[in-house]
Amino acid sequence: MRIMRSFLISAVLLMGVSMTAFAEDARNAEGAHDASEATDRAVGSQLPPKFRMLLIQEMLGVLDASKNILEALVRGQDDVVARNAQGIHDSFVLEQEMSEADSKAFHDALPHAFVERDQAFHALSARLAEAAREGDQPRQREVFTEMLNACVSCHTAHATDRFPDLSAGGR
Ligand code: HEC
Repeated sequence: MRIMRSFLISAVLLMGVSMTAFAEDARNAEGAHDASEATDRAVGSQLPPKFRMLLIQEMLGVLDASKNILEALVRGQDDVVARNAQGIHDSFVLEQEMSEADSKAFHDALPHAFVERDQAFHALSARLAEAAREGDQPRQREVFTEMLNACVSCHTAHATDRFPDLSAGGR
């Protein structure tokens, strides 16, 4: 029941009603990470424009895939969930093909906490794809809810350039 409830909250979130109410829960659930100002800083405006563009492109792809996943979850389409979750996993921005120098510059521009959150998020997308391939629908809803918590949690820490309301409403 609890999972169903948070799943419904997630669905409302994706439908774009309000991200702020959700942010508090997401941060509470996040627990023990290092919350110092130095690590929890907005990254968008700190990035060279070409890296910021890559990140935004990835985010738009992630949003699109998440909408597809939401619809497939409520329709019971395991194959669509698997394909889109795998797509999110494979879009891992830090593993895009770029020169070694660019890759190092990109990493250096990002706080460690961001890289960790990104890795954890992509690991979740792999787990969702796996649950979908196994046809385990309760597990899919559970992992998808965790992924949405990860979206809001990372945005609250690192995307406040883009979503200032998350910071105002959440902190
Ligand atoms: C590891 C951190 C992280 C995670 C996880 C994350 N995002 Fe983001 N996202 C960002 C950052 C940082 C920005 C802001 C970039 C900027 O300032 O230009 C952003 C921006 C966005 C944008 C705005 C793009 C634009 O038009 O500029 C959307 C939409 C978005 N994210 C969707 C999502 C969704 C949906 C999820 C989860 C399914 C998610 N993000 C997970 C870090 C993250």
